[in-house]
Amino acid sequence: MLQALLQSAVVAILAIDDRGRIRTANPAAERMFGYTSEEMRDRNISMLMPEPYRSQHDHYMERYVRTGEKRIIGIGREVAGQRKDGSIFPIHLAVGEFESEGDRFFSGIITDLSAHARLQAEIDRQSLLFQAVFDYVPETLVISAPEGQIVLINPAATRMFGYSANEVTGLDWTVLFDAPPDKAQLQKDLASKHESDGGSVEISTVLRRKDGRTFPAQGHIAVIAGADGTQMAVVSLFRDMTEEIKRRESSLRLQKLEAVGQLTGGIAHDFNNLLTIISGNLELLDGTISNPEDRELLSRATRAADSGARLTRRLLTFARRRQLAPEVINLNEQVRSMTELLHRTLGATIDLQTSFTRDLWLTRADAGEIESAVINLAINARDAMPSGGKLAIRTDNAMLEGDEVGFEGPLVAGDYVRVSVSDNGAGMTKDVLGRVFEPFFTTKPPGRGTGLGLSTIYGFIKQSGGNITIYSEPGAGTTVNLYFPRCLDFPVGVTAGADASKEERGRGERILVVEDNGDVRALTVQRLERLGYEVVEFPTGAAARDALKGGLKIDLVFSDIMMPGGLTGVDLRNWIGEFEPALPVILTTGFAGDAGDIATIADEWPILRKPYGQRDLAGIVRKTLEKRKV
Ligand SMILES: Nc1ncnc2c1ncn2[C@@H]1O[C@H](COP(=O)(O)OP(=O)(O)OP(=O)(O)O)[C@@H](O)[C@H]1O
Ligand SMILES: [Mg+2]
Repeated sequence: MLQALLQSAVVAILAIDDRGRIRTANPAAERMFGYTSEEMRDRNISMLMPEPYRSQHDHYMERYVRTGEKRIIGIGREVAGQRKDGSIFPIHLAVGEFESEGDRFFSGIITDLSAHARLQAEIDRQSLLFQAVFDYVPETLVISAPEGQIVLINPAATRMFGYSANEVTGLDWTVLFDAPPDKAQLQKDLASKHESDGGSVEISTVLRRKDGRTFPAQGHIAVIAGADGTQMAVVSLFRDMTEEIKRRESSLRLQKLEAVGQLTGGIAHDFNNLLTIISGNLELLDGTISNPEDRELLSRATRAADSGARLTRRLLTFARRRQLAPEVINLNEQVRSMTELLHRTLGATIDLQTSFTRDLWLTRADAGEIESAVINLAINARDAMPSGGKLAIRTDNAMLEGDEVGFEGPLVAGDYVRVSVSDNGAGMTKDVLGRVFEPFFTTKPPGRGTGLGLSTIYGFIKQSGGNITIYSEPGAGTTVNLYFPRCLDFPVGVTAGADASKEERGRGERILVVEDNGDVRALTVQRLERLGYEVVEFPTGAAARDALKGGLKIDLVFSDIMMPGGLTGVDLRNWIGEFEPALPVILTTGFAGDAGDIATIADEWPILRKPYGQRDLAGIVRKTLEKRKV
């Protein structure tokens, strides 16, 4: 029976004599080491081990026989085994001692640990992977016991909360919250979530750093359960929402401004047309009235129409529908030329300091608008410092990476020239700051502010491809940064203004007028006739084109840009460019509907901006006719 036991055992069993020689080996030993029992018989047991176990083993045996000191007998050790083919594998060796017929023997029982070792290696690999992921994910991970004590916190979380891993381990999870979520409710949610799809529960919350600072965050919380369903741990992933919320607020404000801009632009555009008619007709009346009382009435009406025109101009600027006159400029020169004016405007209580960066990049923008923007900002600063203070205007180059959230929408990455206007005045509350770009938003008493200053700057900057940021702290002051896109062109000579000093009269040239608005058309026709031109008029671009096709002879086309009926002034101009390239065309518009289109044609023939005066009209028509003759 003993023999049968040896034969059937799955562990290797060897009998060894007191000199360490193998006397018998069972079949499991043969299978394990690849030797037959004949090959093993009478050879030292150490043949089954690689170095250094081989020599150690001899040493232990010899020592035991000599001194009786037990190093391995009855203890068992994990050592390495070596097969006949030389391969090495982990084994457990248990050595026992027995006597048979007066001789001393040892028994060796050997278990193959290969499978166990593979399992251990897999466990090691997995925990290494887990550790790497846990350590390197940018996401904040906190693992806590079901009862709430923090067990593990990853480096991203220690950075977010300002605790070291040691400090926080063992503390209750709730220390991470400003107002911890209701534990019972959360447990219920987690349990039902775990049952339904094993996903995480999402919470919006406010977290608290070690230093007490709080921040809005989003949490994803999930339960890790064992195979039997018992909760082993709770994993929480937190995300700081500060930037995201800023981005959302900024985008909401942007949408609101866009909507207000649409509305404002539409109204201002129609108003502009009406004002053109009013002031044009007043101008025509001007030549016919001599009675001083009537003249006074007339001049009052003219002044009102003028301020109406100024107002619509600002509104159009806000709505980004102003026809801008961009030119290549150096903002250092631009701002420097204004300092005298600023000193006078601001008065003695304001300490104006300027600093200009050398080698400032150039930009392309409307110089007149820049000037009024800077003056507007300076006046805002002055108003915020009623008993005096410091006003600093700086210029510098700014390379934006595209990660900064502008006050209204993101700042597009790129090279910009920056003008900063800072004051140490009253500053603004968050509520005021959130509304400053809305047209007519003002905190100033009636008569002091219209609330259009920052709105127009906003529209102008956006239309110029730039951006604006405002930093303000109640009681500390305000800094407004204007960003203008860098321009790589060379500066060109300042374009001469189109102000004709005296009316240049027509010499009987024939002008074709295209305008869909009957009143505006009547006014234009009348003005041109007064100037001494012959006029042919059409209500649509198509009608004018047909007449030209039909052989109508004229010297100049004067057309509105925005017209219903499919053919705009720009289309007409393009058609004429092919049909009769030498025929000059003047386009007129209340706003730049499509700035790109207009910019390309503006180079060749002029554009007259509404509302315009008789002198503007006279000058531009005369100049254009002369240009053709050259
Ligand atoms: N530098 C500043 N410091 C403190 N508050 C400011 C500053 N600039 C603007 N504000 C606030 O923003 C509001 C809007 O400014 P904005 O320039 O658009 O209009 P306004 O100055 O009130 O009127 P307007 O410029 O049309 O005369 C101001 O009424 C003020 O409350
Ligand atoms: Mg202002």
